[in-house]
Amino acid sequence: MGAARKRILTGDRPTGRLHLGHYVGSLRNRLSLQDEYECFFIIADLHTLTTRPDKSHISAVGENVREMLLDYLAVGIDPDRSVIFLQSGIPETYELNLIFEMLVSVPRLERVPSLKEMATTASLESMPLGLLGYPVLQAADILLPRATLVPVGKDNEAHVEVTREIARRFNRLYGEVFPIPDALIGDVPSLVGTDGKAQMSKSRNNTIDLADDPATVRTKVMGMFTDPARVHADIPGRVEGNPVFIYHEAFNPNLEQVEDLKQRYREGKVGDVEVKQHLLEALNEFLDPIRDRRAKFMRTPSIVEDILIAGTKRMRDEAIETMSLVREAMGMYRLPL
Ligand code: TRP
Repeated sequence: MGAARKRILTGDRPTGRLHLGHYVGSLRNRLSLQDEYECFFIIADLHTLTTRPDKSHISAVGENVREMLLDYLAVGIDPDRSVIFLQSGIPETYELNLIFEMLVSVPRLERVPSLKEMATTASLESMPLGLLGYPVLQAADILLPRATLVPVGKDNEAHVEVTREIARRFNRLYGEVFPIPDALIGDVPSLVGTDGKAQMSKSRNNTIDLADDPATVRTKVMGMFTDPARVHADIPGRVEGNPVFIYHEAFNPNLEQVEDLKQRYREGKVGDVEVKQHLLEALNEFLDPIRDRRAKFMRTPSIVEDILIAGTKRMRDEAIETMSLVREAMGMYRLPL
């Protein structure tokens, strides 16, 4: 018999290659959720338009989608078990977005903190209507497959709250069509970049990418920021907040080695180079199977498109069904075209 698996929807804007921060912050979690839940992963290309509507950026989306999907596959997201789809391939998203726009107020959206931040980061002079509507579009993404669980980072928590409000409002006005989805907020702190200054991000140029080859990882690790006060290996060093040790803790499965290195570092009995050398080994051991899987998938040139087409068709079936429930519940006038 077996009750239907609960349904998850989550995803990313296509930004190109993913890095260790993405792995720690979301990918790892998604891998484990695949067993228990029916997972829908959205590649939210329409959401990129909210801050980057310029043509030069639009023309890079295809390549970014491709790189990101290869990274999904490389870490072990399984297209046979999970649905991976392209947002713009689902016309019902635009439809439901418009209907949802009637169910939320402008002042409510103006209180979503992430949107102002996004506008500032993108150096936009004023708030575009579409960016204000970012969480509404996201609500359409989540509710089209009638997902009940949405794993996201803290920055997206308020968006899921808007989704819940819209779903409640819809159900109250028109009848029970949508589940009220729960956010599943990751509690891992975001991974610091190789510069030790801020969170790992492409724009800061402080990433180690899942697709980096060993030589690139070596250069990045050897150039990593450590304890700046430590000008000689015999000076006691700081382990706390030191990115090299943060990465050891996140990626080196040899706990004894990590403890030993920490202790010797604190006592000024190990050089930075040795600590980095061990980190490099641990990272390569972690990345090797990911690299292998990426290479294997890349041997089939059409793989990315094949998977996206299959996933988008599957999602489309769900979307069509949901929209017919929506129209019926609303009692919308329809021409018999
Ligand atoms: N807003 C997400 C981000 O920060 C991307 C996204 C779009 C999303 N639609 C979604 C996440 C639906 C979860 C559910 O990139």
